[in-house]
Amino acid sequence: QLFTDYFYNQEDYDTQDGGYVPLVAPDVPQQKLNIPEILAPDKETDTDIYYTVVSRTGEVQLMPGRKTKTWGYNAPLLGKTIIFKRGKHIHITLKNELPELTTYHWHGSVIPGVADGGCHTPVYPGETKHIDFDIDQPAATLWMHAHPCPSTAEQVWHGLATAVVVKDEEEAKLPLPRNYGVDDIPLILQDRRFHEDNQWDYQSDYDPDGVMGPTAMINGTINPYFDVTTQKVRFRILDGANRREWRLHFSDDLKFTQIAGDGSLLPHPVDFTKLLIGCAERMEIVVDFGKYKPGDEVVLYSDDTPIVHFRIHEFAKDDSQIPETLTDTLPDPEVTPDAPIRKIVMSGMDESVEINGKKFDMSRIDTKTKLNNVEYWDVTNSNDMEGGMLHPYHMHGCVFKVISRNGKAPYPNELGLKDTVEVQPGETVRLKVWFPCVGVFMYHCHIIEHEDGGMMLQYEVPDPKHPDELPQPLMDHH
Ligand code: C2O
Ligand code: CU
Ligand code: CU
Repeated sequence: QLFTDYFYNQEDYDTQDGGYVPLVAPDVPQQKLNIPEILAPDKETDTDIYYTVVSRTGEVQLMPGRKTKTWGYNAPLLGKTIIFKRGKHIHITLKNELPELTTYHWHGSVIPGVADGGCHTPVYPGETKHIDFDIDQPAATLWMHAHPCPSTAEQVWHGLATAVVVKDEEEAKLPLPRNYGVDDIPLILQDRRFHEDNQWDYQSDYDPDGVMGPTAMINGTINPYFDVTTQKVRFRILDGANRREWRLHFSDDLKFTQIAGDGSLLPHPVDFTKLLIGCAERMEIVVDFGKYKPGDEVVLYSDDTPIVHFRIHEFAKDDSQIPETLTDTLPDPEVTPDAPIRKIVMSGMDESVEINGKKFDMSRIDTKTKLNNVEYWDVTNSNDMEGGMLHPYHMHGCVFKVISRNGKAPYPNELGLKDTVEVQPGETVRLKVWFPCVGVFMYHCHIIEHEDGGMMLQYEVPDPKHPDELPQPLMDHH
């Protein structure tokens, strides 16, 4: 089956919002797509990997003329791609060379709250901290971004976001492209507005429903082209934008195959000509350029705006087939008997956004659960204002399975593990969530200005050895 239309209703797209900023093709020469380098470990043994992640300021030649002032991880903008290997113990040294406090949130990593990098664990300017955790989750594309509330959105806008790739042995055996930089390419989709002298100005672009800019920035490149030198290319697409949904399609309505979602491979590949990705979601796709010849150009669009140009070069014929079953080992635990069904209602717009009638308070625990509980969480977008919008609902410290949408089957490309799910106005999405980690974790809308605006709560998983104690401090009194 080939899906030739987006799964969501057009009335709910971000285009319906009064503050919507349409993408405009930039009037600058094409530049080679930046492929973030892979971050070299400080040390690696059979059991452990050590990394150092430095957040810093920088400057990048994004447009002709003045360089743009940016922030990044181990790089002037965005960062280097960080590799986690399943089964290893990861040690990370976190250094903050920025002029303000930040945090390092491992979005999609199922790790304890002390390492998760939410607002409770700031790293102050000039400070260095160490975290370590086990990685025991399937191969996937995750990401890391700043998360100091309430300035997550502004710090991400400055550039604090980078790709994280989890590798495992199961995925390594599949006939899929995985030659990083050649046929396995991250595509971090973001948008920016350039002001005078090519600078960004978050404050003047501020919109409580999410900041947007008219210029697409892909991996920190404006108007990028990519040289295609293999018949098949895997793209690890991350919507790293503060607000924008991307409605992706190729020239010639070229078919492509989604193989993975947020937290794992999909059980079965799904073919598309059009695919919407929402804030913070990841979708891995494989594109077969077999019908093109050297000199051809294929274009990736969002709506009608070209965002990446693919220049076709000579390539060897590739007859490999994507397997019908990509994984049959995804966890699907039974719901814990007597577990409550949690009700999560996202409401409002602009400054009035809330969850369950509350705004975020980092000193308040909103939900308490138990280690390894398996629960249904019914997440509703109540759309009680006129003009609906999609809210991308995200949870830290866990992965979930999408069980149903208003009682109907989930979409075929959300049958793997997820951590972020788009919820339409008037819709209740039932999730099956399990909690393998101790800590205090946030759950929120991933339109980052909604999150900063308080559309966020937190849950606690106490340490069973000390069930009455908070598993971590809620406030860091520096
Ligand atoms: Cu991308 Cu609270 O997360
Ligand atoms: Cu997260
Ligand atoms: Cu929202």
